[in-house]
Formats: sequence, C-alpha cells, structure tokens
Amino acid sequence: MTGVITDACIRCKYMNCIEVCPVDAFYEGETMLVINPRECVDCGCCIEECPVDAIVFDTEERAQPWLALNAKYANLWPNVTFDGGQTPPDADHYASVPDKFDQHFSPNPGKGDIGPRTASARAKACGGCTKETPLKKLARLIRSLWR
Ligand code: F3S
Repeated sequence: MTGVITDACIRCKYMNCIEVCPVDAFYEGETMLVINPRECVDCGCCIEECPVDAIVFDTEERAQPWLALNAKYANLWPNVTFDGGQTPPDADHYASVPDKFDQHFSPNPGKGDIGPRTASARAKACGGCTKETPLKKLARLIRSLWR
C-alpha cells in the first residue's frame, strides 16, 4: 500500500504533507507533488494533513487514475522535503476547482529542495551546520593547542 496524490493537489501545493513524511517520499512538479510508491512506508500521516483531501491510499478507487502518474513523475521530478514557500498565491481559488488535470497539470519539474527559497529555508532548519556544538568547540580547542 502507498499514498497517492490526486489532481486535487494541482495549483494548490499547500505543502502540509511533506512536513510530516518520515521518509521524504515527496517529489515536486511545477503544479503538484507526487509520492514515490517505492519510498512511501504507508504511515498515512500526510493524508490527514492535506486541506484539500488530495492524498489517498492506493487501495481506494479514487487513487487508481493517479497511480501511474505518481510513479512516473517521482522518477522525473526533484525531491522536496520541506515547505519552501511553493504554495501559489491563488491556491485557495483552485482548492474548489474540480478535475484540474486537463487544464492545469504541468509535466515540468518544480524546484524541489534546491530552489533559492527552499535553500534559504534549509539553512534556517539546519542549525547543526552552523552552530558550534560542545563537540565542535572541543575539537577547535584541541586544534588550537597543536598550533
Ligand atoms: Fe498537495 Fe495537499 Fe500536499 S495540496 S502539496 S497534497 S498538502
């Protein structure tokens, strides 16, 4: 079993889902995210988080048209592991639009974690790279004694 993102995500990209994924199984297209079925561990955490009910388990009928799309684009689009501000300003308008695939799906990749905004968010999230931990302080002191 795996989570599957449906067309309800298109042009919404609220990004709540990726914050709770324990295995970073989300991949970003220009207008929607998909889940890699080979990485998803079926915890279902993301299903509860999506405000437009875009994620379902693959056992549900509503998932069937989107299974192949999730598997295909998870191999083509970049991995995304945190919210870097990708939600479009008009997301709330598209939240109530049905059947968005034909008019609004884009096969183009999104920025994933390497876009300029997400890179900045990552720098903020990872204090371990920049802060001096007690171990780093000890290593610095030892190095200074050898000079
Ligand atoms: Fe899409 Fe819902 Fe996640 S709109 S980005 S599946 S929270």
